[in-house]
Amino acid sequence: MSGVVEIYVKPMEQNDIDDVVRIYLSSFKGMRSEDLVKRWFECNMKAYPRMQYFVALYRGRVIGYILWVEKGGFREESVWELEQIAVDPEFRRLGVGRRLIEDSLGYLKIYLDERQPRSRLKLILVSSSSSNEAARRLYENVLGAREEAVIRDLYRGDEIVYIARYYTLEKLKQ
Ligand SMILES: CC(C)(COP(=O)(O)OP(=O)(O)OC[C@H]1O[C@@H](n2cnc3c(N)ncnc32)[C@H](O)[C@@H]1OP(=O)(O)O)[C@@H](O)C(=O)NCCC(=O)NCCS
Repeated sequence: MSGVVEIYVKPMEQNDIDDVVRIYLSSFKGMRSEDLVKRWFECNMKAYPRMQYFVALYRGRVIGYILWVEKGGFREESVWELEQIAVDPEFRRLGVGRRLIEDSLGYLKIYLDERQPRSRLKLILVSSSSSNEAARRLYENVLGAREEAVIRDLYRGDEIVYIARYYTLEKLKQ
């Protein structure tokens, strides 16, 4: 792949589900059954706009996805959780995760502006396993997120909760 410019991020559609299921299965161990994973994605898709998926495409192929979840109501000062992000193992360390976060936040800002003109993204919550150094770097480098708490033995071990607040988010390109 010649640089990140050829990546395109767009809202996920129904016909992207098989691709994201494949990426999930090569990225996570929480669910092993393809059928269960598919049901999980379909269920979350139905929760739009509270839950919003975006996919990254490279030459028409889905190579990553991100799931955002709005917390605590449709508030003017909106709070979102970056619930899940994964990039096809063949395409990691090429800036795809960064593009997924930055470009999907662009979509979320447009969505919020249309929903409530005075709204703004107050805070982003994100968490990952304490052993997941790639996720830590991604959240720190791209979101400016900082470690806030540790939840003992959440999924498969301790989970670190990171928070990104306005002042770091505002540094993101518009
Ligand atoms: C975490 C993940 C999404 C990162 O995606 P990616 O496309 O490889 O990340 P990028 O290439 O955009 O890197 C973004 C930043 O994170 C850092 N980073 C990413 N992977 C890293 C790694 N393995 N080690 C160290 N730093 C890493 C990069 O240095 C980069 O910072 P920079 O742009 O300032 O140099 C990817 O590794 C993945 O899918 N992992 C499995 C699923 C997962 O653990 N998801 C997170 C929990 S939900």
